[in-house]
Amino acid sequence: MAGLKRRYLLLLAQENLAFRAAEIKSLVSLCGGRWSSQQELRLNSPFWILSLPSEGVARGLMKRTVCAKSVFELWGHGKSAEELHSSLRNYPVDNMAPYLQSNFTYKIKVHAFNKTLTQEEKIQRIDSLEFLPFEGKVNLKKPDNTFWLLEDYGMDPNNIPKQPLNLYFGRWIANGQRDLIESYSVKKRHFIGNTSMDACLAFIMANHGRVKPNDVVFDPFVGTGGLLIASAHFGAYVCGTDIDYSTVHGLACHAFEFYFLHNSLHQGKASRKNQKWRGPDENIRANLRQYGLEKYYLDVLVSDASRTIWKKGVQFDAIITDPPYGIREATRRTGSQKEMAKMAERGTENHISISSNYHLSDILFDLLKFAAEYLVIGGRLVYWLPVYKPEYTEEIIPRHPCLKLISNCEQTLSSHTSRYLITMEKVKEFEDEDHDFHILESQYLPYKSHNSFRDKYFSGVTKRIAKEEKDSQK
Ligand SMILES: C[S@@+](CC[C@H](N)C(=O)[O-])C[C@H]1O[C@@H](n2cnc3c(N)ncnc32)[C@H](O)[C@@H]1O
Repeated sequence: MAGLKRRYLLLLAQENLAFRAAEIKSLVSLCGGRWSSQQELRLNSPFWILSLPSEGVARGLMKRTVCAKSVFELWGHGKSAEELHSSLRNYPVDNMAPYLQSNFTYKIKVHAFNKTLTQEEKIQRIDSLEFLPFEGKVNLKKPDNTFWLLEDYGMDPNNIPKQPLNLYFGRWIANGQRDLIESYSVKKRHFIGNTSMDACLAFIMANHGRVKPNDVVFDPFVGTGGLLIASAHFGAYVCGTDIDYSTVHGLACHAFEFYFLHNSLHQGKASRKNQKWRGPDENIRANLRQYGLEKYYLDVLVSDASRTIWKKGVQFDAIITDPPYGIREATRRTGSQKEMAKMAERGTENHISISSNYHLSDILFDLLKFAAEYLVIGGRLVYWLPVYKPEYTEEIIPRHPCLKLISNCEQTLSSHTSRYLITMEKVKEFEDEDHDFHILESQYLPYKSHNSFRDKYFSGVTKRIAKEEKDSQK
């Protein structure tokens, strides 16, 4: 029927489960599809049935996703072989016919989740589908069309049912971008640090941020540029700032290195173990070059995120960042003008005046305000929020009147700590009254006192070590 959305089967990878729905939703909307609230997602299952407006949207989605492995045009499904067959018999012949013609070769693949099928069992399954009106010849090596029979044996490897719980049959359309996880692995990257973002998560962040070709993406806490790489891969021009001169050091363009520069001959520390000094290609620009993405590199500046360096009117399409939590890296900001003046009097003007207390509450406040002011309307802010689990509710996520919360996805770090990947979208122009928006007391409570997340993190760690020591003495 004209106008009726077709159904597609998505086969997802069973990792990063908490990030999958937000990735797929973001990408469907990026590819021009509207996300219907009626989509039924079995969140932990590798099989999702989606209603999409066209095959073009399904293909667009697969050009971006790192969470899904493949997408199929769904021809039938059921809870038993009989149900599947009857569903296939009801699938409109007109929809099938273009792919079953005599001039097209084909192949049928059988895939079972949570069970290994023998070759004989697979052939049995294929034979049972002979009622389908295939007219072309089988070609196992290079078929024109590939069809998949997918069987779902549930999630429990210790309790595998004899018969599948769900069966699906469909025409394979495209694979996702799972290969990127290996080809962009930080293990093989020239320049890394101890907080370099894992490649898969970096792509997930760019997808949550709906980064697209020709966008300008900014990371205010750029580190080794792990997040810039993912955005550049999707065709965005990228730039960033970091307070740490030695992280940024080595870049060809020094024009933007502001008053923070200390010893100009200072050589960056090595990014890998057993290596003393950083090599000439260990910088963010060279990282992009490594992947053929140098043309997307705008610049990386030494700058403090607590002090905006951008002119009014500058706009970014997305801000994608991993702020410092004070766990593996210091949270710092530059000192006040007064402090700087004092240092200059003492003859230490070549040194950056850095105070060590850029509290998480201030980092979050500055970040949201910056995003509210410098994002385009519809642009997204994607960042990690550290959370002390016992205190977490959605209410503690920092808000801003210009930013709408799109998703919050948990990654567990320990028994008592997590970090949430927060995605917000700018929905309203930044006005004068938004300058000093007051955060509701309750919202920021967990982040309010002096580095409270850091304190709780370490107090939890200390308690755990004490408990482990006590247990080992028993
Ligand atoms: C978690 S790391 C970012 C890692 C990065 N995503 C990567 O892939 O390498 C946080 C970074 O924030 C930087 N930083 C800390 N305080 C800052 C500040 N006030 N302004 C700008 N950068 C800051 C640190 O130097 C560190 O490189």
